[in-house]
Amino acid sequence: MVTLKSADELALMRRAGRIVAEVLDELVAAARPGITTLELDQIAEEGTRRRGACPAFKGYRPHDVTYHHSLCVSINEEIVHGVPRAGRKLKVGDIVGLDFGVSYKGYFGDAARTIAIGPVSAEAQRLIRVTREALYAGIAHARSGNRISDIARAVQATAERAGYSVVTEFAGHGIGRRLHEDPQVPNYFRPGMPNPRLLPGMVLAIEPMVNQGGPELEILADGWTAITADHKLSAHFEHSVAITDGDPEILSELN
Ligand code: MF3
Ligand code: CO
Repeated sequence: MVTLKSADELALMRRAGRIVAEVLDELVAAARPGITTLELDQIAEEGTRRRGACPAFKGYRPHDVTYHHSLCVSINEEIVHGVPRAGRKLKVGDIVGLDFGVSYKGYFGDAARTIAIGPVSAEAQRLIRVTREALYAGIAHARSGNRISDIARAVQATAERAGYSVVTEFAGHGIGRRLHEDPQVPNYFRPGMPNPRLLPGMVLAIEPMVNQGGPELEILADGWTAITADHKLSAHFEHSVAITDGDPEILSELN
């Protein structure tokens, strides 16, 4: 069931989204060669608590494996859900997906960015740029009267035009009093998929995962980390976006 948020609820979701954006900014500043992914996780958790919010991912248990961290850090061929570790240091040339969510006064915010550590290959830069463009192409279609398929097709077309593939096994989602709500927001569309019309008050987490090679993935033995089956690069961007009477409102972006 898709829930529509009231003006008061949207005001709280704006604050949740702002906290997510501020903490992501802190993480981007801290993400330098030599820092470990566990240290980044600690920065995320401290930044969250300092702002009176709770980490959204910590303790999350959508299937039989609990997620024990505040942040997902997905490096190079890792697509999403990379688990922070004391033994994993960032290095020059890595591309690093930072995926982070909070709850604030009962409402969730969720966003992700992929960044380059020092100089990276031109091909890695292009993948990052196209994935960000795919997110913003999807957001541009997040308008009342459109359907989920308009977002999905815009994301997919942007990625595939550039010669990349979209991941089909994970999708974006509604967001509100829970991290994951209806509707699903896939990054591709086929006839027969659920395709609700977008209405003012819906809030969607739109999150393209774009692979340099094929769309196939594997899950590592930790039960979380998704990597590309061909071990080529992958990038991920996400925003929490409110559907309005007019232009989409990006809740997880500072303005
Ligand atoms: N942004 C990701 C998502 O919406 C975060 C996953 S939460 C985790 O699915 F707890 F599963 F890591
Ligand atoms: Co999400």
